[in-house]
Amino acid sequence: MEKFHILHLFTSAPNLSPFDVNMAADAGWHTLAPYTSLEVGDIAGLVQDAMFSRSPSGIKRTGIFIGGRDMGVALQMLEEARKVMFPPFQMSVLADPSGAFTTAAGMIAAVGTRLRRDHAADWKGMNSLILGGTGPVGMAAAILAAELGASVTIMSRSAEKALAAVENCRTYAAGGDALSLAGAADTDKAEQLAGADVVLATAAAGIEVLGAAEIAAAPVLKVAADVNAVPPSGVAGLEAQHDGTPLPGSQSGAVGVGALAIGNIKYQVQHQLLRQMRESDEPVYLHYESACEVARKYAAERDG
Ligand SMILES: NC(=O)c1ccc[n+]([C@@H]2O[C@H](COP(=O)([O-])OP(=O)(O)OC[C@H]3O[C@@H](n4cnc5c(N)ncnc54)[C@H](OP(=O)(O)O)[C@@H]3O)[C@@H](O)[C@H]2O)c1
Repeated sequence: MEKFHILHLFTSAPNLSPFDVNMAADAGWHTLAPYTSLEVGDIAGLVQDAMFSRSPSGIKRTGIFIGGRDMGVALQMLEEARKVMFPPFQMSVLADPSGAFTTAAGMIAAVGTRLRRDHAADWKGMNSLILGGTGPVGMAAAILAAELGASVTIMSRSAEKALAAVENCRTYAAGGDALSLAGAADTDKAEQLAGADVVLATAAAGIEVLGAAEIAAAPVLKVAADVNAVPPSGVAGLEAQHDGTPLPGSQSGAVGVGALAIGNIKYQVQHQLLRQMRESDEPVYLHYESACEVARKYAAERDG
């Protein structure tokens, strides 16, 4: 009998995300096993338990998904899992806490398309503000934009929280010290907007973080993107399905990318990563960078 594809889903949260469960089943994982309220210290034992119970051919049909709400914890769990395995007992692992890696990747890819097609530019050198940027989606987007050469400022209602988010990004990004990352409080927003080429709105659902007057006063804004699909939009006048649509009220010719346009790419990326784990002959360890690679390739093929 052919062995089933088994995905072990680890999370530091009390529950798995039903979104992730559906995505895994639709990517062909047959058996989904949840492990909740985990700590980083629990990972080695669980991985060893899984790896020694199947033959090398069965191990190729076994994978690990890491969810949860915390980017740092998820990346530490991924590293713990990778460290404890050795040939031929290596399972593929994907970390996507709170959907943040695939969502941020979708946002970075969609904005990259708009920069290229509407402004003959790319991420390199773009002054970028991440509004409501202290959550997992904002921090993952900050790392990815900075890795592509942007100068990134994470904004928050609290300056301390913004600076702590920057420190977290530096800790968890490869080469974090070399990235152009800064933190600022929302009270500095007008000053920051004076030089902003790109605004990414990544605050909690249903909160407007960029208002109509702020858009009108942003002199060099090229693209504003919003991941929040719950009304009101995070960016005034930007609708969820907008994708390269002129941003209402912009004096600088900015275009907008809404939550559904980003969500479409996020969906494709998560599906492709889950399939890659299932189909790869060699073990793969996937996180925000792999998500961004897949997202940019998908957007380039789709949008030219
Ligand atoms: N489109 C998609 O496919 C997709 C997928 C996943 C998630 N999402 C969306 O992505 C967004 C970010 O998700 P997340 O999990 O990273 O968010 P989160 O952690 O819940 O919130 C991000 C930040 O929003 C700020 N915030 C919270 N309440 C606020 C308020 N009342 N006023 C102003 N700012 C407030 C907080 O920053 P400070 O306290 O530092 O100010 C918080 O750290 C959400 O809107 C979520 O729905 C979209």
